[in-house]
Amino acid sequence: MSESNTETGTIDRYGVMGYPVSHSRSPVIHRLFALQTRENIQYELLQVSPEKLETAVRQFQRTGGKGLNITVPHKTEITKLCDHLSERATTAGAVNTLAFRGGEVYGDNTDGIGLLRDLAVNLGIAVEGARILILGAGGATRGIVGPLLEMQPTSLIIANRSLDRAEELAAHFSQSGTVTACRFEAVSIAEKYDLIINATSAGVKGEMPPYPAAAISDSTFCYDLSYGLKPTPFSVWAREAGAARSVMGWGMLVEQAAESFRIWRGVRPDTAAVLKQMSIAA
Ligand code: ATR
Repeated sequence: MSESNTETGTIDRYGVMGYPVSHSRSPVIHRLFALQTRENIQYELLQVSPEKLETAVRQFQRTGGKGLNITVPHKTEITKLCDHLSERATTAGAVNTLAFRGGEVYGDNTDGIGLLRDLAVNLGIAVEGARILILGAGGATRGIVGPLLEMQPTSLIIANRSLDRAEELAAHFSQSGTVTACRFEAVSIAEKYDLIINATSAGVKGEMPPYPAAAISDSTFCYDLSYGLKPTPFSVWAREAGAARSVMGWGMLVEQAAESFRIWRGVRPDTAAVLKQMSIAA
């Protein structure tokens, strides 16, 4: 936990490193958190290419930076620079939050808890006992499978364009619960899914994979980890396929940010207020 700097008047530096990163909403969210909690921080957008990642992180740390969010495409690579990894970062094999403490780099992953809090607290969706289908088997999926399994869903299936990546992830998490893998075309529709999560990056690239529409029933809740000012292709597709509800990942974005803020500042902001402000901004 960092010491309060409000009395000394110094400003602690944070930021988000990604490539590209100009679209990131994290500076807005952390500014709102800082105003709300009266924490004296500044938060920068840092566009850093993969080959410059290590130099940029070390320089940020050397010049007094207190912590960083790490985003696409650096979340896996950054684990190598961490002196300590939290259990959830180790399970995910990915880091989205760095804290610099006493010259050491502490890595954590708040994506999974961010999603769980959005589902449970903001949206009232039960994960316990749910039949879950995750579309995609990249870094985003890796970050959320462990926390989802901890909530003991009835089943969790990872469907992906390339079967080998889905199988690799299913094997990685096999000790934490029953996870199965398949291609989009092979998703079983014998049982209805309670929760379908889009964790592919297809929509961001303007592509529309052959998602299994028959997996959606009128009791299926669809969640897109991606978000935008306009409905994402997945959220439109899910609504048209008859989902009970289809939402984008704004809530997860704000919740994972709040958890990073708590790690850095020792205080958890009120996310409901910020979510409201964000949707007004959207
Ligand atoms: P990461 O670095 O996190 O792996 P990525 O390579 O963009 O990010 O891929 C994330 C996920 O989106 C993967 O599951 C990827 O499918 P593959 O493993 O088959 O590559 C998926 N994805 C990206 N574009 C896609 C598309 N056009 N159709 C289907 N899946 C796609």
